[in-house]
Amino acid sequence: MTLSTTRRTGAPHILDRCRELVRPALVEAVGRLHPWHAETAAFSLGWRGTGGEPLPGSQGKGVRQALAVLGAEAAGGSAADAVPGAVAVELIHTFSLIHDDIMDGDETRRRRPTLWKAYGTGPAVLAGDALFALAVSTLAEAPGDASPAAVRHLARALGDLVHGQAQDLLFETRPWSGPGAVLPHEYRAMATHKTGSLLGCAAALGAALAGAPAATVEALDLAGRHVGVAFQAVDDLLGIWGDPLETGKPVHSDLRRLKKTYPVLAALSADHPAARRLDALLSRDRPLDDRAARRAADLIDESGGRAAALGEAHEHLAAARSCLDRVPLARPAREDLLTLIPYLVDRTG
Ligand code: IPE
Ligand code: MG
Ligand code: MG
Repeated sequence: MTLSTTRRTGAPHILDRCRELVRPALVEAVGRLHPWHAETAAFSLGWRGTGGEPLPGSQGKGVRQALAVLGAEAAGGSAADAVPGAVAVELIHTFSLIHDDIMDGDETRRRRPTLWKAYGTGPAVLAGDALFALAVSTLAEAPGDASPAAVRHLARALGDLVHGQAQDLLFETRPWSGPGAVLPHEYRAMATHKTGSLLGCAAALGAALAGAPAATVEALDLAGRHVGVAFQAVDDLLGIWGDPLETGKPVHSDLRRLKKTYPVLAALSADHPAARRLDALLSRDRPLDDRAARRAADLIDESGGRAAALGEAHEHLAAARSCLDRVPLARPAREDLLTLIPYLVDRTG
């Protein structure tokens, strides 16, 4: 039996199946770009190196395209309905990471140089813009009646994503403690925007393109937003305690740059002597060196920030599941969604 007749379960199989379904349309869309942008897109998508050489195994997880496919199937449609939406969210995700790496000054992603590091900042800004434009046109040209509603969804998610990135950057200028300190609920709002908006949009777009009722589209959107908060809390954890060989990102980059990530905020809000030592270390107001970053990581753990971030992730996972319980969803896509969501939280890379 082949993949097409046997639906294999398990999150990696689900991601693989969806990637295979979407890939031809994604390749076709990227092929419509200016050759320079097609080259930088292939680099960012992990398809090719800077010399144009094929790079097997350096793609992202493809979570957003999978959510779009499963959203369509869960709404009773087919994977084919979702394809323009899946392509659009994967392109938007790639654009957002290219620009995010410039904002964050990160030099490595997926064990490779980031686009700005490999090609320069100007070309990377432009490459991101090209992918943004391609995503919108792909969705606007989707066949069927649902295309205008799908474009509206994407526009809302884009606005939220940019809003979340603004909140994230502005948090960098806020103090660690006292009046003006970033509170956990502000972090949640930021993560819902910067990460949850596109995950929610992915699932909602799939359903919308399959002609689902508004209640189903909204439930999938909200579920994805909760998944986003859980995903971001885990991303923050992996940025401190993850193995860079698995995450493919530099270790302690957030800590060194004094980013307001959830484990740190949770640690600082704890009534624990280690929290006060952490506050003193972070409030020195200069980027942390390696030794100070390691010390900060230990103090965050000691104050309970690591456990709190994991707890936060699991709460949002449960909230995502209950959103999915509120509407009738077709099987086996419903089971696939319920398999995929916890995998995103239990991951190590
Ligand atoms: C990235 O957030 C979110 C967007 C690109 C919208 P982060 O900066 O926290 O994510 P990583 O760790 O670089 O992937
Ligand atoms: Mg970043
Ligand atoms: Mg960032």
